[in-house]
Amino acid sequence: MPRKLIIDCDPGIDDAVALAMALFDPRLEVVAVTAVAGNVPAERATLNVQAIIEQLDPPRYPRVGAATASDQAPSVNARHIHGDDGLGNAGLQVSQLARQHPSEKLICDEVRAAPGEVTILCLGPLTNIARALSRDPAIAAQMGRLIIMGGAVNCIGNITPSAEFNIFCDPQSAREVFRSPTSKTLVPLDVTGQATFSLGLLEQLPSEFTRAGKLLRKVVPFLFRAYRRELGLESIHIHDAVALVAALHPELFGTHDLAGDVETSGELTTGVTVFDRRESARPRGNIEVALEVDAAAAADCIVRGLADAGKQS
Ligand code: BDR
Ligand code: CA
Repeated sequence: MPRKLIIDCDPGIDDAVALAMALFDPRLEVVAVTAVAGNVPAERATLNVQAIIEQLDPPRYPRVGAATASDQAPSVNARHIHGDDGLGNAGLQVSQLARQHPSEKLICDEVRAAPGEVTILCLGPLTNIARALSRDPAIAAQMGRLIIMGGAVNCIGNITPSAEFNIFCDPQSAREVFRSPTSKTLVPLDVTGQATFSLGLLEQLPSEFTRAGKLLRKVVPFLFRAYRRELGLESIHIHDAVALVAALHPELFGTHDLAGDVETSGELTTGVTVFDRRESARPRGNIEVALEVDAAAAADCIVRGLADAGKQS
């Protein structure tokens, strides 16, 4: 039986790549895709989720959750990496759904409908998950594993010297999720940054005559240009797709049970993920953290996943 999955995301080019892989993967039943503000503001994130799903036209349509802006709206965005519209300025057309369900409500509904069975793949700031937990605290025990792309453990940050983007955008929510009694796996930059893709990836994308290929060929080239312009790199990372690989192939990752928390108020360190690894403290682990990865195998899974999406579309 396929595994039920909610994808909570802020598309974002790497979010779009992960969605293309997941929506055609027969091992998964993507029951909902819920939007969250992050790479782009809330309303744009929702439109992007709809646009990606419409463009891919997968065999099973997931429910769509709408992002709503929070009082602590992210003070940053990632338009320099993902484009003004979050999707490489691809200009995908989409109309707003007449009836929108808030993302956190959809998460609660889907988890309650299948307690313990729904994995949640978190590819953006943890706003919706924290809201779902505060809306219905009992839901923590009913959530399947949370797989969270976020944080930087032993490496530098990507939005500040020490913080990773998703956690930095909403550190308070991240702290609430870290401290919640949920089972969770963190997939930080330490591992997502190890899978690198050179320009050759463009030739490996599905043909433009497939729906997945058409979408990917519109958005992925922008990421290469942005990495070169903004970071001086010739190759790209597809962080969110690596997190999906962690859900599908945990055997490719080395994980450690750690006591993790999030800095919410530091002048220079807001959004930093902090782990107590002192021998003397012997802290109890509250989060499984992936620190090693077979990067070549993970990259290969991504290329194959996209090729499969192409074959089915
Ligand atoms: C994360 O930040 C976003 O820009 C990406 O979509 C990814 O989820 C990487 O730090
Ligand atoms: Ca993302």
